[in-house]
Amino acid sequence: MKLVAGNWKMHDRGRALATAICGRLGARRVDVLLCPPFPYLREVGEALAGSGIALGGQDLHWEAQGAFTGAVSARMLLDTGCTHVIVGHSERRLLFGDTDASVAAKVQSALAAGLTPVLCVGETLQERDAGFAQRRIRSQVEAAFRPGCIVAYEPVWAIGTGRAASPDHARDAAQTIRVAAGPDTRVLYGGSVNATNCAPFFSVTDGALVGTASLDAEAFAAIVRAAEASS
Ligand code: PGA
Repeated sequence: MKLVAGNWKMHDRGRALATAICGRLGARRVDVLLCPPFPYLREVGEALAGSGIALGGQDLHWEAQGAFTGAVSARMLLDTGCTHVIVGHSERRLLFGDTDASVAAKVQSALAAGLTPVLCVGETLQERDAGFAQRRIRSQVEAAFRPGCIVAYEPVWAIGTGRAASPDHARDAAQTIRVAAGPDTRVLYGGSVNATNCAPFFSVTDGALVGTASLDAEAFAAIVRAAEASS
């Protein structure tokens, strides 16, 4: 089954957007996941009740509790109704110092608590230009993947730039990920996915992790419909 996940990042969207998305999605043949900012998890969860749309966090700390100002644990995400959590997003890696080691610890903590991690991997522009893309993807997967993870391939140069990867590039990356993680691993593509360009990605991956376009209920619903059409 395809999965379309929305990463709302640090945009102040909550109940209203969740309600608008629910209103546009009827019975579905694809899985849908919304990842709002932490403070809005509960109200988004309320808006999603009975819809079958899953709720996820955007990050977590690997410890169960303690003196970690600003952090939340897997248990806290579970308590607010999450079933999933994004781990190792490139913005966390580049702006907040997440490393392959800390990402691996977060994945293990999420899995131990019963959350499904959406493990993000992807090369930078420099790595791609140097011909290291597949090697970097493989090393990120080998460092942090555990059975039970969904993997999102998100080339850093394609995130928020309006410059999506080619479907061929996404297919090669998905292949590398499945060799490293196992042939049945669910692999998403992320990076400037929108309602116009999404369809080819659904024929080479198991779904999409959507940032900017997930903030627009109509655009997000159109992406979900495109995923259904290719299912
Ligand atoms: P984007 O973000 O769709 O705005 O490129 C994707 C992501 O960061 O997950």
